[in-house]
Amino acid sequence: MHFETKAIRIQTERSQHHEHSTPIYATSSFVFDDAEHMRALFANEAEGNIYSRFTNPTVREFETKMAELEEGEDAIATATGMAAIFATFASLLSSGDHILMSRAVFGSTYRVAEDYLNKWGIQHTYIDHLNMDSWESEVCKNTKILYIETPSNPGLDIIDIRKASDFCKTHNILFVVDNCFATPYLQQPLTLGADVIIHSATKYIDGQGRVLGGVIVSRKKIIEQIYPFMKNAGPSLSPFNAWVLSKSLETLAIRMDRHCSNAMLIAQWLESRPEVLKVKYPFLPTNDGFDVARSQMKAG
Ligand SMILES: Cc1ncc(COP(=O)(O)O)c(C=O)c1O
Repeated sequence: MHFETKAIRIQTERSQHHEHSTPIYATSSFVFDDAEHMRALFANEAEGNIYSRFTNPTVREFETKMAELEEGEDAIATATGMAAIFATFASLLSSGDHILMSRAVFGSTYRVAEDYLNKWGIQHTYIDHLNMDSWESEVCKNTKILYIETPSNPGLDIIDIRKASDFCKTHNILFVVDNCFATPYLQQPLTLGADVIIHSATKYIDGQGRVLGGVIVSRKKIIEQIYPFMKNAGPSLSPFNAWVLSKSLETLAIRMDRHCSNAMLIAQWLESRPEVLKVKYPFLPTNDGFDVARSQMKAG
């Protein structure tokens, strides 16, 4: 299915009411047929929902859509983008590990590294994200993760994902990309060699300033490693927010096209102004490598 079709067609199974729009399963917990059914669910011998901190059909719909749109195997939704980042670090790192972090990361991500990772014996080094040649000398024996944001918030710096992924493969480092600004419509880092994608769904995924949310997309094995943290620590996405975000994905392509063409119009207008010395056009890494940004192509 095409991106836009997936964003619309992937839905929770229709209920007996044959609803047109996807329902919200606004429930804290689920009922069991009998004690044996409950035992089997808790023992992982049967598939089904137990409690919405563990799984919820509306949240699962959003996760399935995000995994498909990012070309990943699986996803976990979280209450916020920061919860997605924290859950990733908490699940994939241990005391004594080291991470390389782009110097251009969102303020709260920086605070998590400074205030919590340090406290728990996980070291980090900020790398000059725009000078890849300088990264090599920062790798340590215990480096587990390279963490970047591209485009970064707020500077909109762009990192070549494919090149960064080659670097990670050479050094056996897990490559985590915060893809919140480009969204999977403009950039799919997993197809360029990244291992884990993080989103603050609060941004363009919602796109209308209504809810907070986050999501982690990766291979099944990595998602399985993160799931116990989600289940037990509990930064789960609410079914209502998941429903809003699922519905938002239906219009993501149209909204991103408009964002791109609006940005191009503003850039062109700025270029025509004598007070403006230079307008810098960022180039987004597309699936063909560093190429003309789709936004530029679409705006002609
Ligand atoms: C790039 C980036 N990552 C993560 C976050 C955190 O997301 P949230 O506010 O949903 O926790 C933000 C928020 O602005 C962001 O811009």
